[in-house]
Amino acid sequence: MFLDLSYKYLIKKILFLFPPEMAHALIENFLYFMPNFLFINKFDKSTEITLFGEKMPSPIGIAAGLDKNCKSSSKYLSMGFGFSVVGTVMKNPREGNPKPRVIRLIDEKSLLNSLSFPSDGAMIILKRLKRLKKVKNRIIVSVSGLNEDEIIENISVFKDHCFGFEINISSPNTEDLKKFINPESVESIISKARNITDSPVLIKLPRVEDYNIYENILKTISKFNKIGIVIANTKPISDSRLKVGKGGKSGAPLINETLKILKYLRPKFKDSVIICSGGVSNFQDTRKLLEAGANAIQLYTALIYEGPGLARKINMKLKNSRLLS
Ligand SMILES: Cc1cc2nc3c(=O)[nH]c(=O)nc-3n(C[C@H](O)[C@H](O)[C@H](O)COP(=O)(O)O)c2cc1C
Repeated sequence: MFLDLSYKYLIKKILFLFPPEMAHALIENFLYFMPNFLFINKFDKSTEITLFGEKMPSPIGIAAGLDKNCKSSSKYLSMGFGFSVVGTVMKNPREGNPKPRVIRLIDEKSLLNSLSFPSDGAMIILKRLKRLKKVKNRIIVSVSGLNEDEIIENISVFKDHCFGFEINISSPNTEDLKKFINPESVESIISKARNITDSPVLIKLPRVEDYNIYENILKTISKFNKIGIVIANTKPISDSRLKVGKGGKSGAPLINETLKILKYLRPKFKDSVIICSGGVSNFQDTRKLLEAGANAIQLYTALIYEGPGLARKINMKLKNSRLLS
């Protein structure tokens, strides 16, 4: 409660005086150097879920992009998030697009970004990940690459150090990824991934108008064990405030579409793991997605607007609702 109020009335006001990426770096460094015991969260059994046969203490996870370089995931897990997606990791260090490339749309609680995978590179991130042994089973590593081999190389770098992988073939900021959005490419990537790891693999898909694309990809991945999808990445937009003129929108405006995609897919794919990402801001959104059959949920933008007490608040309401029991 104290944390929520101080975030709403003080910390957020100060942070929002800085450009988004600078505010992010400030928080990230603060969290990186804070000792873990300052973030104590006790999970209740009633918020536990099973994902690919393993227990996770909450269905609410951190979406890819918030902890691109594995500096703050352990703190997010201690704030009440059940799992955290580190990355998207690229093999080599990468600058990403020119700035400005993140913009806050405060009135609609959303963000625009055109980052295009800035990354410290796989080797530096691996070093940090190795320090998270205790929470290894709650870390998913998001990997991407400019071709299949790069994606697979990234998986082999991290394969003994995380719960599973999310393969990002959906960022609207990286043109090269479009070539992977078809069942043949997805099948080829998964087959190669399966040659090197038995860990869970999620394919993170873009927001598309034609839901047949989701359907065809889900049909293909159903042949494999421990494979699921994340629906969906940010919504492609054009905006001249971004240096490169286009990017992706995230946050509250996406929730209805996220729910719509899930409601379309779930009845057709009863047993597939479907994780939802896009617009989740509170318990109500979480409830709607879980009731419609989401296996888990990831969020990013709401944490910026609602603050570090968000997961704990949702977990508390989940506990009282008995939705998961
Ligand atoms: C600034 C920013 C950076 C992001 N970076 C990544 C990324 O590296 N990889 C990825 O798969 N998704 C990335 N995303 C997308 C998020 O993981 C998430 O799917 C999307 O923001 C929708 O969720 P939200 O509405 O809860 O933010 C990013 C989103 C934002 C806002």
